[in-house]
Parts: sequence; C-alpha cells; structure tokens
Amino acid sequence: MIRKINRTFLSIASPRRSSPRGSLLPLGRVVPLLLSLLLLLAALPAATAERAYRHLVILGDPHIPGQYLDTKEQVIRTVNSWPDVDMVVAVGDLCEDLGTVGEYETVKHFFGRLKKPFLPIPGNHDVVYRDELNVKGRRIRGDDAAREEKRRRFREAFGQRADYHSRKMDGYLLVFLAPERPEHLAEMSYRQVAWLRSELKKHRRLPTIVFFHAPLRGTLPDYNFRVNTPNYIAQPADRIHEVLMENPQVFLWVSGHTHTVPFRDGFASPINTYGKRVTNIHNPDLNRARIWTNSLYLFPDRVVVRTYDHGKGAWLTEFERIIRPECLGEAERRRN
Ligand SMILES: [Fe+2]
Repeated sequence: MIRKINRTFLSIASPRRSSPRGSLLPLGRVVPLLLSLLLLLAALPAATAERAYRHLVILGDPHIPGQYLDTKEQVIRTVNSWPDVDMVVAVGDLCEDLGTVGEYETVKHFFGRLKKPFLPIPGNHDVVYRDELNVKGRRIRGDDAAREEKRRRFREAFGQRADYHSRKMDGYLLVFLAPERPEHLAEMSYRQVAWLRSELKKHRRLPTIVFFHAPLRGTLPDYNFRVNTPNYIAQPADRIHEVLMENPQVFLWVSGHTHTVPFRDGFASPINTYGKRVTNIHNPDLNRARIWTNSLYLFPDRVVVRTYDHGKGAWLTEFERIIRPECLGEAERRRN
C-alpha cells in the first residue's frame, strides 16, 4: 500500500510540448527555448489536476513566537519545499499567549513566509483571553466585547470573512469551527452548533472533515490531568455528540489544544475513534525542540494520514493510517 501511495506521490506533471509548426524562428533558437520551457515546467509544483489526491498539512498549536522559533521557521521552509501541498491548516493557538495586537503582528509576519494556501482556525490563546493579565499574573477570559474583538483580529489577520465556515475540496466537505464562549477553553456558541447542523444537513452526501481546536471527548487516554476534562474537549460536548450522530458522513475530526505528541499513548490508536465512526486526528504543538506535523492526503475513497518528523527529516511509517469514509454508504442506505 505504502509503495502504491509513494508511486502516486512521486508522479509528476509531464509537460506538453507545443508544435513548432508554423514558427518563423530558426530551429537553432526554438530548441533552446523549448528546453528552457521544459525545465521551467519541471520546476513547478506538481499540477493539482494531475494528482490523484489533495495534500493538507496540519500545523498543531504554533504559539508564535514562543520557544524554538528557529525550529518553527525551519518547518515553514520544509513545507514550502513540498511541491504537492494544496493547503496548510493551523488548528488554533497561533498566538503565543493572549492574542494582543503585537502578538497578531508577529504571527502575521511569521506566516507571511509560508508560500502555500493557509487556512488557520482560532484557539483559546487567539480569541478567549483579555489583553492584560490579572494582578496575580494569570490570564482572564474576556467578556463578549473583548472576545469579539479577538475574533475580529483573527479574521483580519488571515483575510477571513467569518468565524466559522466550510468549503468543498474534491468530493469532501471541510468544516472550520471556532471557540466563541468563555465557559470552557474551546466552546462553540449554540448558534454555531445550529449552523454546523444545518451545514451538514445540506451536504449529507459529502464525506466531511471537521477542524476544531479541541478534540472530541474520550478520544485520548487520560495521560495527564488535563486530557478529557471539560476545558480540554470540544464543547458543548453533548450538543456536538447529537450533531455527529445525526450525520454519519462526518468521519474525521482534526484538533490541536492537547499538544499530543507521537510518543504519547493514543496519538494514533483505536481510542481515537469517537462514536464508532469519527476518527480524531490529534496534532502535536510546534512549541518544542522536536516538531512533528501530520499530513492528510485526500484520495477520492480514502484519507491517508502521515506523520512527518521535522527533527529527523523523515516520514514515520509506524503512524501511517488509512481512513475510509465507509459510513457514507450506510447513510445513503438509511435515507433510501
Ligand atoms: Fe495550545
């Protein structure tokens, strides 16, 4: 299977030659011209139309500038060097801590070096806290106006028109969600949950991937005191559960927040499956000396998840997963 995938990955665009017939240029000038053109085409990224998949690179919580900024910059250079990347998604906490105007400026500057389409979603460190710490040096969750201001900063920084939105990509629906309420660190508003429900209802036939800062409840073992507690799961958990159970086309949930690294139990394991159907892909944060990123390869009938170790400069085959949206057939059958 891996070999088969690699063969597909390695297929590159074969440039078409145009006929020189009718050209008034002498052959001695046409041949070098064509050779230059061929070299130029070979240097271009593999054309999306000629690939059997779409490649999404997932960046876990970047926390910019934070620690190990040089290592984070190297990640950007590496992703820039991959010729087949269709989109880079950062799953929240782009800002180091509070989401101040200064932090957003730093984040914009940092991601200005990324040469791929970029679609980040917000995390609690981007949109939940006030700009100032309290007298004890602790973060304070903002009131409605403060949180709206943070979401405005996020939208403006990345040219987004809405806090939550969706788009289609080659037969898949991609849904991007955002924390809004202050009760938990990653909680959608009821209005957003209603939007999600209606969006999914409108696209029942499209296998769906959801991106949200926090993971689904119970999709990791309790490896520390935070995991699976109310602030570290997607909220409102009960309403999200209802929506997911109503919509069997949702088969992937992509999250950050828990900073789960590959050497943790449960990084890529059967416990990641929610409600027997939705696989939660947990992504390590970037705020560390050794960085890993996950890549999602969207083929028409399956998603291949691969983990890249930026320290080693290698793909970690032991974490490779193939996830098929088989539930779709079941959903279709039930409707008919
Ligand atoms: Fe984080």
